[in-house]
Amino acid sequence: IDTVKQTILEAIEVGYRHFDTAALYQTEQPLGEAISDALRLGLIKSRDELFITSKLWCSDAHHDCVLPALKKTLKNLKLEYLDLYLIHWPVSVKPGEYDLPVKKKDLVPIDLKSVWEAMEECQALGLTKSIGVSNFSCKKLETILSTAKIPPAVNQVEMNPMWQQKKLRKFCDEKGILIQSYSPLGAKGTLWGTNRVLECELLKEIAQAKGKSLAQVCLRWAYEQGVCVLVKSFNKERMKQNLDIFDWNLSAEESRKISQLPQCKGFPAGEFVSDDGPYKSLEELWDGEI
Ligand code: A2P
Repeated sequence: IDTVKQTILEAIEVGYRHFDTAALYQTEQPLGEAISDALRLGLIKSRDELFITSKLWCSDAHHDCVLPALKKTLKNLKLEYLDLYLIHWPVSVKPGEYDLPVKKKDLVPIDLKSVWEAMEECQALGLTKSIGVSNFSCKKLETILSTAKIPPAVNQVEMNPMWQQKKLRKFCDEKGILIQSYSPLGAKGTLWGTNRVLECELLKEIAQAKGKSLAQVCLRWAYEQGVCVLVKSFNKERMKQNLDIFDWNLSAEESRKISQLPQCKGFPAGEFVSDDGPYKSLEELWDGEI
C-alpha cells in the first residue's frame, strides 16, 4: 500500500493528473491517501485538479448493488465524487463474491438495462461526473445505447499497436464515445500481459530512427489516434519519459506501417466464459471482436 501511495505521489509530482483505479485493484485506498497527502503537501491546490476514475466490479453489477458499491469506492478514496465511474466488464457474478479468479458457477447474465439505470442514478446524485463502460463490444454498446438516457461517455479497452481496435474505434467515434486505452504498452509482467508490444521489431526501428524509446512511440501512436491513454509505471524516470510525447510526431509513413502490424488480442479474459454461463465462448463475450 505504501509503495502504491508513494508511486502515485511521485506521479503527481512529475505532472500526472489522471488516475485510474477500480474496486477490484485494491488501489483505491492508497490512491485516496496519496490525494490527501498531495493536498497537504501543496502538490495540488484542490481535488478538482485531478481526474479520478474507478470501476464497478462484476459482483456489484446488479441494479441494487451499484449505488452502495460507488459509495464504498468513494469512502475508500476519501472523495465526494468521481470524475468517471465505469462498469468494469459486461459480466455479472453473484453478489458478495470478490475472489479472483471468478468462479465459473457464479457467473450470471448481466442485465445491462437496469445496471445502466443505476449508473445514471449515480451521476444524477452527483457522486460521479460521468459514467461509462469497460471491455464492451460494439454490440453491447448498442444494447446500452438503446435504452440509455445518458449515453456512456467512455469505453475503456485494451489498445496498443498489436491490438488496435479499428472497428470499435470507428463505432465509438460515430457515437461520441471516448476510447480509453489500457495496456498501451502491452501490460508486460501482468497475468494477461504480453512482451509482443515492447519487443516488436517495427516499433524498435521507428524508435531508433526517431531517437525515442519504443514505449514513447506506442504512447505517441495511441495519442495520435485521438484516444485517452492510461499508462502505468512504478519508475519515476519512465513516468517522465512517458509524458514526453507531446512535442514530436510520427510521420505518415510510420503511422501507415504501424497500422499494418499483425493483430492479436493480449487479454481474451477466458475466465468469464463458461459452458453453463451467459457467455459460452470468447466469440460471445466479445461479439466476434477477437
Ligand atoms: P515499470 O513499472 O517498471 O516502469 P501497460 O501500461 O501497458 O500496462 O505497461 C506497464 C508495464 O510497462 C509495466 O511493467 C512498466 O514497468 C512498463 N513500462 C512503463 N513505462 C515504460 C517505458 N517507458 N519503457 C519500458 N517499460 C515501461
